[in-house]
Amino acid sequence: MTTTLHASPDNRRRTFDAAPFTASAPLAATLQDVLVDLLELHAQTKQAHWNVVGRGFRGLHLELDEIAATAREAADEFAERMRALGATPDGRSDSVARTTTLPEFPAGRIEDARATALVLGRLNTVGCVLRAAFSAAGDEDPATGDLVNTTLQSIEKHAWMLRDRLAHD
Ligand SMILES: [Fe+2]
Repeated sequence: MTTTLHASPDNRRRTFDAAPFTASAPLAATLQDVLVDLLELHAQTKQAHWNVVGRGFRGLHLELDEIAATAREAADEFAERMRALGATPDGRSDSVARTTTLPEFPAGRIEDARATALVLGRLNTVGCVLRAAFSAAGDEDPATGDLVNTTLQSIEKHAWMLRDRLAHD
């Protein structure tokens, strides 16, 4: 069956409105995977922010809070992107703990060099997840690809700064 897009050749008005774009199940699952890792990254960097000790305390304390803010804001963007595409984000703490790919963060006070190394590792992992998400999302939804890219740039900038901190400690 063919449908008529325009009323006539000299009139560009459509005869009907376009249907909304909705995420496929694999795209929705990809966005959910990114969401839980960003929420976990936020929780872990806050944990480190509160418990870091050592000579580099002040600077690292502040830098960890910047990373936490990046993760929180990006998580919000991904959750809202899911809603915009007709998917339903699940940010419940139980869901995050059950499905995140990030290793568990240790309890208690933590020396600055160890905190730096652990958070750097988490950033690298989130970077891998985002790169995989770009491959999964890019063709189906370039706008989601843009969000993935923007987030990846921020995550990798934070990783660079922590790497440099470790190299010169
Ligand atoms: Fe704080």
